[in-house]
Amino acid sequence: MNQLIDVKAVAPPKQSVPRKGSGQVASTEEYQALYRQSIENPTLFFGEQARKLLHWYRDFDTVVSGDFYGFSNPPSWFNGGLINACYNAVDRHANETPNQIALIYEADDERLNYNVTYEELLARVCQTAQMLKSIGVKKGDIVTVYMPTIPETVYTILAICRIGAMFSLVFAGFSPNSLRDRIQHANSRVVITTDQALRGGKVVETKSLVDQALEGTDCVEHVVVVERTGAKVNMVEGRDFSYNKTVPTFGVYCPVEWVDSEHPFFLMYTSGSTGKPKGLQQSTAGFLLGTVLSSKHVFGVSQGDVYFCAADVGWVLGLSHAIFGPLLNHATTIIFESTPLHPTPTRLFDVIDRHKATHLYTAPTVLRLLRQHDEGQIKKYDLSSLRCLGTAGEPIAKDVWEWYFNEVGRRRCSICDTYWLTESCMVMLTTIPGVSNMKPGAAGMPFFGVKPKLLDDKGHEITSRPAEGTLVFKNPWPSMARTVRGDHQRYQETYLKPFPGYFFTGDGAVFDKDNTIFITGRVDDVVNVSGHRISTAEIESAIMTAQAENLSIASETAVIGVNDDVTGQALNAFIVLEPHFQDKGHAKVVEHAIEHVAKGIGKFAVPKRLFLVKDLPKTRSGKIMRRVLRKIASGEEDQLSDLSTLSEPAVIDHIIQVVKASSSQPRARL
Ligand code: PRX
Repeated sequence: MNQLIDVKAVAPPKQSVPRKGSGQVASTEEYQALYRQSIENPTLFFGEQARKLLHWYRDFDTVVSGDFYGFSNPPSWFNGGLINACYNAVDRHANETPNQIALIYEADDERLNYNVTYEELLARVCQTAQMLKSIGVKKGDIVTVYMPTIPETVYTILAICRIGAMFSLVFAGFSPNSLRDRIQHANSRVVITTDQALRGGKVVETKSLVDQALEGTDCVEHVVVVERTGAKVNMVEGRDFSYNKTVPTFGVYCPVEWVDSEHPFFLMYTSGSTGKPKGLQQSTAGFLLGTVLSSKHVFGVSQGDVYFCAADVGWVLGLSHAIFGPLLNHATTIIFESTPLHPTPTRLFDVIDRHKATHLYTAPTVLRLLRQHDEGQIKKYDLSSLRCLGTAGEPIAKDVWEWYFNEVGRRRCSICDTYWLTESCMVMLTTIPGVSNMKPGAAGMPFFGVKPKLLDDKGHEITSRPAEGTLVFKNPWPSMARTVRGDHQRYQETYLKPFPGYFFTGDGAVFDKDNTIFITGRVDDVVNVSGHRISTAEIESAIMTAQAENLSIASETAVIGVNDDVTGQALNAFIVLEPHFQDKGHAKVVEHAIEHVAKGIGKFAVPKRLFLVKDLPKTRSGKIMRRVLRKIASGEEDQLSDLSTLSEPAVIDHIIQVVKASSSQPRARL
């Protein structure tokens, strides 16, 4: 906490000051007045914003009803209203400015770039919607989308909501096993994918991965294949068909299906502190309002802006801010298929310069990588079009913040450190560009309608400042995930029961003397690798089920997160081998365990380092002391502090030796 309570504030640069007519908050007084209203009278505030920023086919009767903590009567927003997400994101702008560019496709190979106007976007979405209808997709069905960041993914997502169906978005880096679990859980009849995907010049065999996922499943009737590379891929007769050959045969208009405000919108799976990912379910109007508000009031997005969120659309950051935020606000959005290092580490700056982007929104892990590769070439790019620089997904270190501010923003742009979660789908804490003072590393102030509180271990509110504790939210907001699909009890137990009366975020925080909030990281067993949430329990369960020669490899394992210069946190696994493997060639056994994690979850979840140990440090009641493993893996074995509950003290020296012996040869991620 000590380093965080005295961080000096940096004044907002003048160039970041909101433009007239953008609808953005223009002064501290305005922020305070709106914030006060949003807390004292949320019905008035959210009702007004919903009517101002969204198009309603039928107006709503009530803003919010239900009970935040009630099991059978959870909060519901904008009851009585009829709305459509696609109409709000596309039609109203296509009608007004058909020739305005909606999407700039920045392809993996930039020679394949092209732009899509709002009129063209509407046409492609309508054709895709009709294709989906032709195979029987209807209101309430869940279509699984396993796609890279390309325009067809945007058409598909918008087409699904146009016809009132629901999408389950699965990042195209997940393994066949993870994809299978999600398809089965959603009971999807239709999966949409590409023949292959390209990222950073590397080919990902998406169609083949879908085929593997579908082995042993019987719910899927159709796989729609978008031709991304044109490679010849396996097509199952009667089940699989080409998007490119089918979609152009449909007309360019498809009517909108107006849905109730609370109509289920999409599913996104997140890791929690148990092994099984949770399928968080969003509702339509709440998500739209949370996203349009965040985009408008945090980033000041409006018509004329070229918004660049460099995230994959398979994650919530990309879905909300590469697709919905800018489109709902009538802006132009850059859809970035590639990686920040491809073909060179100046790719993002080149994109900003070529397209005159007004915003860049990315995660600290990307910034760390770019800073590491910065050899001064960034100065060659004209970045004067930028107004605001966003960051999200993990805490940003002071030196990375300064590099972002000085080198990318050239001291002209506010840095908006935005804190939010898949569960919130709305920015919860933020800096207001051009208005708020910025404190490097701080997520900032509460966003509208958000009441952040700090709790101690016993669940009591800490009111003194500065203070450190667990971050919770005291009231509901429109875009909070409504449930864990099929398991509302789990939703209650994860978010509402840990501290009755509050929504539990899973994060620790420091509130400084000015009430500026710094996130200190997860307090549960979730590790944040490159801005992606990964549950250690999920990896442990993959390692525990790994086999070689039909025999289990591990008798015990513990996976932890340790700080890492590039990825923020890195995964380290400690494995106790089964006796039958203890004397065998270890390298091979380890390869099996790695493969199993890659297959079971995805390559991104493979631990960076694996340590084979004889035993794990445990309390006398048998609980693994992960805190001890974290210290040892971080080279801080001299700071193990209280070991009084440890049952076998000798195990500590052994583990220190194993870690030291292997620290000269860290294992690269696959
Ligand atoms: O630990 C917090 C971290 O990311 C988690 C949420 O991850 P996810 O559901 O993938 O949503 C990402 C949406 C941006 C949080 O529990 N986190 C998110 N934003 C910040 C952050 N940590 C520090 N500062 C942030 N700005």
